[in-house]
This record gives sequence, C-alpha cells and structure tokens, in this order.
Amino acid sequence: MTVGNIPRHVGIIMDGNGRWARKRRLPRSLGHRAGMNRMIGLISRAKQSGVKYLTLYVLSTENLARPRKELDGLFNLLRKYFDDNVKKLYAQNSEVRVIGDLSVLPPDVRLKLIEGEENSPENADFCVIFAINYGGRAEILNAAKRAAEAGEDISEEKFSSLLYTGGIPDPDFIIRTGGELRLSNFLIWQAAYAELYFTDVLFPDFTDELFSSALEEYSHRNRRFGKIEDDK
Ligand code: FPP
Repeated sequence: MTVGNIPRHVGIIMDGNGRWARKRRLPRSLGHRAGMNRMIGLISRAKQSGVKYLTLYVLSTENLARPRKELDGLFNLLRKYFDDNVKKLYAQNSEVRVIGDLSVLPPDVRLKLIEGEENSPENADFCVIFAINYGGRAEILNAAKRAAEAGEDISEEKFSSLLYTGGIPDPDFIIRTGGELRLSNFLIWQAAYAELYFTDVLFPDFTDELFSSALEEYSHRNRRFGKIEDDK
C-alpha cells in the first residue's frame, strides 16, 4: 500500500519487546527475537511504501548497561540478523548503514557491522540505518570535538555532516512503540522538525498495517517548519 506524502526518512524507536514477552510468560530474549522478526517485516514494508531512509533504534548507549545475559542474547540476534539478512538487502538494492559507538561491542559483532556497511551497494534506492550503541548526545559531542579540531567557523549544515548520520537527510517522521512519550536520546539533533508518532502497541505487535496507518497519519500532518501557512 502507498499513501500520499510519504516521509523520505522514518525513524523507529522499537520499544516493548520485554513487556511483550512478560505478557506471555516468556523470557525477554524471546521478546527480542519477536522484535527482530517484526523489524525484518517493517524494513520490507517501509521500502514498498516509498520510504527512502529507515533508521532503527536497535540498541541505545543506555541499553548497554543491561544484564550480561540479555546483552549476549541481543548480540547473538545481531550476529544472526547480519548473517541471514544483509545479503538479501543488497540483492534488493538496499544500502546498510550503522550509526553509534561500535568500539565497545564484541569484536566479531563489530566486524560484521562494519562489513555490512562497507559491502553495501552504491546508488541504492533504499537505505536502512541501524542505530547500535547509539546515543544522540554522544554523537553531538563527538561532532563538536571534530568541529573544534577543524577550527573553522561552522554552519548547521556543516555540523550535521559531522554527525554519524552525515549525508543522510533529517528524519521526517519518528515512530515510538511501547507507550513511552519521549525520544530517549534518539536522533536528537536531527529530529528538530520531525513529526512524532507514539503508540501503546508493543513493538512485536506493530504490524505492517499499523505502520501504514502511521504513514497515513503523517500524510495529513501540516509541516510548517516554523513558518506560517501561506509562507511555505
Ligand atoms: C526495547 O524494548 C528494545 C530493545 C532494547 C532492543 C530492540 C531490538 C529489536 C526490536 C530487535 C533486535 C534486532 C536485532 C537485529 C538485534 P525493551 O526490552 O526495553 O522492552 P520493555 O520496555 O517492554 O522492557
């Protein structure tokens, strides 16, 4: 399904895997597995809908403080996801990017992520961006240090190019599942003018149809970027 006025760049904060599992008396790891499967479905749906960039919040910097067992499970899922799916994305002419601080990840996971990015097709018609050990404040601080090192006068545009997301347009639409009403350090510079969409639905239950309803709602939003109606 395609709706009018499709956002070029969509971000998703994929929250609620743990509660989805708890409701079913399952271990949290199975909630993350269900989340991963849903993520795979949504990547296809986003591409079919005409979205050009999809940023997925897989792991925040804060998530790295979770118990070792849960983190090991998430790293295993990442290994599995990259082994099983990245080539399928390339075959569909989709690019893979990874944003975040990869330096503290297990070395084999880090390597898979870097290779996943480096082997991506050029001139792809869709780009999936995985935010992993990502934090918006750390990203801004890192860009600020690079700007200071360069020592030149800096514009917003130049500063944006120093972020992990350099070269990627700002998100137009950010969806958060799982009922919380906040951005939790996700793309906080880039989200300045993004439309926000919050739903109580837990991520593994966020179906393709619900994603399309969210896009439908976006198509009715009136984005003024601080200007008045006639001024656009
Ligand atoms: C937040 O839910 C979700 C995460 C910390 C992980 C998000 C990851 C996925 C959706 C899929 C994983 C995909 C790969 C490739 C690893 P939560 O656990 O905080 O849920 P809760 O708030 O209900 O406890």
